[in-house]
Amino acid sequence: MSKPQKILITGVAGFLGSHLAEQLAKMNYSVVGIDNMIGGYPDNVPKNIDFHQIDCCDLNQVKKIIKGVDVVYHCAATAHEGLSVFSPYEITKNNYLASISIFTAAVNEKVKRIIFCSSMARYGNQKTPFTEDMKPKPVDPYAISKVAAEEVLANLCELNGIEWVIAVPHNIIGPRQKYDDPFRNVISIMLNRMLQGKAPIIYGDGKQKRCFSYIDDCLSCMIPMLDQKKPQQTNY
Ligand SMILES: NC(=O)c1ccc[n+]([C@@H]2O[C@H](COP(=O)([O-])OP(=O)(O)OC[C@H]3O[C@@H](n4cnc5c(N)ncnc54)[C@H](O)[C@@H]3O)[C@@H](O)[C@H]2O)c1
Repeated sequence: MSKPQKILITGVAGFLGSHLAEQLAKMNYSVVGIDNMIGGYPDNVPKNIDFHQIDCCDLNQVKKIIKGVDVVYHCAATAHEGLSVFSPYEITKNNYLASISIFTAAVNEKVKRIIFCSSMARYGNQKTPFTEDMKPKPVDPYAISKVAAEEVLANLCELNGIEWVIAVPHNIIGPRQKYDDPFRNVISIMLNRMLQGKAPIIYGDGKQKRCFSYIDDCLSCMIPMLDQKKPQQTNY
């Protein structure tokens, strides 16, 4: 793939999207970002990018903004796995429908590559550590919406000769992460409580373990996805 110049990042006011935008703008790419501000924070959006407050589901708007884009990082989502069994409509709209809208616009524009942020939730309750050769076994609407979007992405890209990469983040932590959402981001929730002089809440017996990935380590994997020669692809 020739060197991409213009990059669209969805969910750019969010945690991962804003870090990707900042890093890619530093590398002198032309960065366009969109976010509907349902999550994320306005201060997260880097000042030196072309930002549009629109919803990914608004296909007509997305089609206008995507003009001239070479590569899309689709990070926008309502990443509330726990909430998804209570609000399946909202979660499915912002994960599945929003993804299909972005992929449709990207295919119409004949972008070179689409990089989709899926989730480790795709593996469900299988034995850890999760490995890329494991079959997805989603166990809730959030995970189902991610796996369904992955499959449509693979299908549309294969049909239209577009390169695609599926990133599978595992519990990312770092600055700019949402800290006021009771349904996710345990480290930010605990830090927020401690800054208020309150003790963190620990459920169960406290012996449970969880691995986290620092944002810079994720960026070091996700930035090369932009133009690495052989994209990592899940087999469908
Ligand atoms: N952070 C993690 O640990 C983690 C783990 C696994 C997967 N992921 C995936 O990585 C991506 C980024 O996660 P994050 O932690 O940065 O989440 P985030 O909530 O910080 O950012 C998501 C952004 O998407 C925006 N958004 C949601 N629906 C939208 C829509 N319909 N149109 C436009 N914007 C919309 C929100 O306003 C928010 O700013 C998500 O797809 C998430 O599912 C993240």
